[in-house]
Amino acid sequence: MPPPVSPVSLLLILAAMPLAVGATKCPCETEDLCAPVVARRAKEVWGFDGSNDTYPFVDWSQLSMVLWNRHPEVMCAAHAHGARVVDAARLTSVPDWEEMLLDKTARDTWLLGLLTDAVENHLDGINFDLEVPMRAGSALCDAYTAAVSRAADLFHKAIPGSLVSVDVAWSPYNVDGRSYDYVNLAEAADLLFVMSYDLQGQVWGRCIAQANSPIEQVERGLYEFLHMGIPASKLVLGVPWYGYDYPCVTAMDGRGAELDTDFCPIDHLSYFNCSCSDLAGAQTKYKDIMAIYDTNRTTDIRWEPYLKAPYFNYRDGAGGVHQLWFDNPDSLTLKYRLAAELGLRGVGFWAMDMLDYGSDDEAVRQQTDAMWQALKAFTQAGGPPGVPSDGDCEADWAAT
Ligand SMILES: *[C@@H]1O[C@H](CO)[C@@H](O)[C@H](O)[C@H]1NC(C)=O
Ligand SMILES: *[C@@H]1O[C@H](CO)[C@@H](O)[C@H](O)[C@H]1NC(C)=O
Ligand SMILES: *[C@@H]1O[C@H](CO)[C@@H](O)[C@H](O)[C@H]1NC(C)=O
Repeated sequence: MPPPVSPVSLLLILAAMPLAVGATKCPCETEDLCAPVVARRAKEVWGFDGSNDTYPFVDWSQLSMVLWNRHPEVMCAAHAHGARVVDAARLTSVPDWEEMLLDKTARDTWLLGLLTDAVENHLDGINFDLEVPMRAGSALCDAYTAAVSRAADLFHKAIPGSLVSVDVAWSPYNVDGRSYDYVNLAEAADLLFVMSYDLQGQVWGRCIAQANSPIEQVERGLYEFLHMGIPASKLVLGVPWYGYDYPCVTAMDGRGAELDTDFCPIDHLSYFNCSCSDLAGAQTKYKDIMAIYDTNRTTDIRWEPYLKAPYFNYRDGAGGVHQLWFDNPDSLTLKYRLAAELGLRGVGFWAMDMLDYGSDDEAVRQQTDAMWQALKAFTQAGGPPGVPSDGDCEADWAAT
């Protein structure tokens, strides 16, 4: 009697099968466009965007992957340009996801479902984005790392060239209670996407509006990953194509906020036991920010020389003063350059559909184009990604 097939080898068999049995009819103009993208790029450029509206306008000469997308027409267009498309692993939408994650058999079944879906839709990997608090060393933490590791095994076997990536907070040190096992997640996954935005989730200083993604703090967070021994070649720097719109509350000296105030006091709304947070602001897309600037501004765009970010004030319909902090091609260029200098594997943005692609207005079209052009600070930075040679910090991690 042959030995019973163990669940593990059954999984391996199943994992090898879907390419043959599961793939649905190719929706592209030619069959070859449904083949997975195999070539690895020296420089990754990732655009998150679940829609099918923007793909006719994006710069495929720079973009290497569309994330959280499963539209067949987007997949065909991306593959035609040698770019990947991956969907999100929506872990928290699984009922009782924590129990599922802790149960190895249930976890493997879930992962196999993700793989089958990717194969059927001719996708090129999977992106994990768990953003819940998790204690370092907890069973759940280990189970998450194990799931990513297993996903990488399954996807790599079944879909040649596929990328398994994990989105992580701007710093590995317990941001919003997320003490994941970053070293082993980086080891397990192909790449980590460092979400270097929402950095004012906790404002420990005075409660005023400030930059969403100030570069010194972004750099600090990246070094923290590097100092843990995670190689630069595993990191993709995620930047915001959105900003925060803060209503200014009564000024610190007790008067109402002036239209041209430089400091905009904001409501104290506590987040993770910090009494001041960007919860007081509203996330606003770059295209909407530019439209508000056109119609309602009460100041020019100002530049904060230390945070290296633009901001302006505007007046709302009720006469209230707002301060809007955002990223534009100038502030993004500095971050893309930083990514190149640190030798990171890529850059990416949340999100591709936050630009205006449909305007008849030449000025708006130029604004959109400038956002894509700014990426060249990374994609066309001289030479292959390398390791910077000057500075003690750099020497520290380069030596590891
Ligand atoms: C997006 O998808 C919708 C629904 O499937 C379709 O009608 C539309 O033509 C698509 N848009 C583009 C730009 O492909
Ligand atoms: C806030 O602090 C309290 C008391 O120290 C603690 O029980 C609670 O878990 C904290 N909440 C968050 C979100 O960190
Ligand atoms: C801009 O000002 C107009 C006129 O006061 C107002 O109706 C509109 O709501 C304002 N826009 C924003 C984003 O507050």
